[in-house]
Amino acid sequence: MNSIQPQSGNRWRGVVHEFRQYLPVTDSTPIISLNEGNTQLVRADNFVKAIGGECELWLKYEGINPTCSFKDRGMTMAVTKAVERGAQVVVCASTGNTSASAAAYAARAKLKCVVLLPNGKIALGKLAQSLMYGATTIAVEGNFDEALRIVRELGETGKIEVVNSINPFRIEGQKTASFEICDQLGRAPDFHFLPVGNAGNITAYWRGFKEYYAAKKSDRLPRMFGFQAAGSAPIVDGAPVADPHTVATAIRIGNPASWQQATAALKESKGHIDKVTDEEILAAYKLIARTDGIFVEPASAACLAGLIKCVKAGKIPAGSVITATMTGHGLKDPDNAIKTAGFEPIVVEATKDAVMKVIGF
Ligand code: F0G
Repeated sequence: MNSIQPQSGNRWRGVVHEFRQYLPVTDSTPIISLNEGNTQLVRADNFVKAIGGECELWLKYEGINPTCSFKDRGMTMAVTKAVERGAQVVVCASTGNTSASAAAYAARAKLKCVVLLPNGKIALGKLAQSLMYGATTIAVEGNFDEALRIVRELGETGKIEVVNSINPFRIEGQKTASFEICDQLGRAPDFHFLPVGNAGNITAYWRGFKEYYAAKKSDRLPRMFGFQAAGSAPIVDGAPVADPHTVATAIRIGNPASWQQATAALKESKGHIDKVTDEEILAAYKLIARTDGIFVEPASAACLAGLIKCVKAGKIPAGSVITATMTGHGLKDPDNAIKTAGFEPIVVEATKDAVMKVIGF
């Protein structure tokens, strides 16, 4: 196999290698990988108990990917194909995670990377990533949708490879998360929950579940349940949002590129899409950290806020097996974490007595 990836001691070789029979690659495709994928599926019983649910909840912890979000699954595929066709520059618009991932894979592939970010609306960790990986980082005075419009125009010049999820290879790579869920669970879930922004991931997961079912690798198809932030809920509200807002900046998107595919996934799977407020998102964000030790970014918690809403509304039959994508790691957004935690470090003098006093002994 013609791969530039050095052999590591780790058996897992990244999603393109591992799922190659389901992906558009040949033996001569030069795979660019950081050994992404193979993320944990963690059961979250404490959270379910805390919200009064009677289901089995499994979290697909995508924050442990190489750049700490699910985007790496799609990016290994998109950058691999960009290299295969001889591209020299990749570009994306991003709310921060796509750009971090594009920058990392482009660095590894020795491609120039240009990222367009909505100025001032990027979580700090994500901004640090694109700068550290050396991407040309452009802060656009506008929102994600405006940045994506510019990126589409750049793509039309034919000189630059767009690695947003309008690039079909991104969706191909991201569908591998569904394969892993079925393999890890030994079946497909009854419901799959995930946050929705540009709507690429819901499209990818649904494709993955359908392909695994068709290949007889799973025995059922889940219902897809997607959640948008209330201030950025174009699909739920049925119209583009000109000035989207939410604390979950990753999903601050007013006109999703994969809107139609998301609608199809919802319809075909007898799914459900709803919106959750920033207060609901932040409450779920804190709860999952406190109950089960899982630290995700606010956008990821949107689907947990959605689960709380569904449990309260009686939409989830007892005994259901639910999987949910925890799309990004909590460390990406230290500002929101510190604000939401609700307390600050307690400063004491450097003595045992002072510490004992704080403990309450
Ligand atoms: N969760 C996180 C942490 C994200 O970064 C994104 C999207 C989503 C959920 C929504 O996924 O767009 O496929 O519906 N982030 C993109 C970005 C837009 O630029 O990083 P989606």
